[in-house]
Amino acid sequence: MVSVIILNNLKIPSHVAIILDGNGRWAKKYGQPRSFGHLQGGKNLFSVAKIAKELGIKKLTVYAFSTENWKRPKEEIDYLMSKPIEMYHENKHRIKEIDYKITFAGRKDRLPHDLLVVINQIVQATKENEGFELCVALDYGSYDEIITAVNQLDKPITKEALESKLMVKEPVDLLIRTSGEQRLSNFLLWQVSYAEFYFTKTHWPAFNKKELVKAIKNYNKRHRRFGGLA
Ligand code: IPE
Ligand code: IPE
Ligand code: MG
Repeated sequence: MVSVIILNNLKIPSHVAIILDGNGRWAKKYGQPRSFGHLQGGKNLFSVAKIAKELGIKKLTVYAFSTENWKRPKEEIDYLMSKPIEMYHENKHRIKEIDYKITFAGRKDRLPHDLLVVINQIVQATKENEGFELCVALDYGSYDEIITAVNQLDKPITKEALESKLMVKEPVDLLIRTSGEQRLSNFLLWQVSYAEFYFTKTHWPAFNKKELVKAIKNYNKRHRRFGGLA
């Protein structure tokens, strides 16, 4: 109830994007292996999506694995690619409890087949849900997204035609990056053209409702002009 009062009169950004950074550093802080950070980070994704939906955000796009993250040690990649499958099988009897749409953005040609099967099942199970979308960017990178889009188009290329081929079509209103880094790391380069940026030192596994409300309050202090004077 407190947050409802806090959020009264606040403008809620329609499309929020989050760079989920700091899983490893969070785990290290507690003397745990990086995989522990990824596990907590993965669980936190569903908590934050629920909160985002309750706050009235329409779409939450999260950066979960970049086209550059394949550079990491095999052991870490194997964990990141296999743990979601295990978690899905443990919880699939509850999939109908998810009352929002889940979609995925990113390359499909390099992910393990078992993971693609799970992704497809999640998408199918939630596709009729309306009102809120959680889009998970997995093996996603903006260079790849834009080049793939351009290669599908005939010249002359227009902004609208290019946007129609992007994996994430809606412009971002608020971009959040956790864990202190202030860079995009190849995330939604096109879509954040007029987004407001918010950086927090909080590591992703510790990012919660209080943090999201703080980001939205900060967003409300911004004056978006889109090149005009209004
Ligand atoms: C984000 O946390 C998750 C992925 C990129 C997969 P990191 O794994 O980048 O954690 P840090 O930045 O090393 O702490
Ligand atoms: C960005 O985080 C990618 C994701 C959060 C999925 P990284 O940890 O990979 O980014 P850099 O290497 O610090 O730029
Ligand atoms: Mg990182």
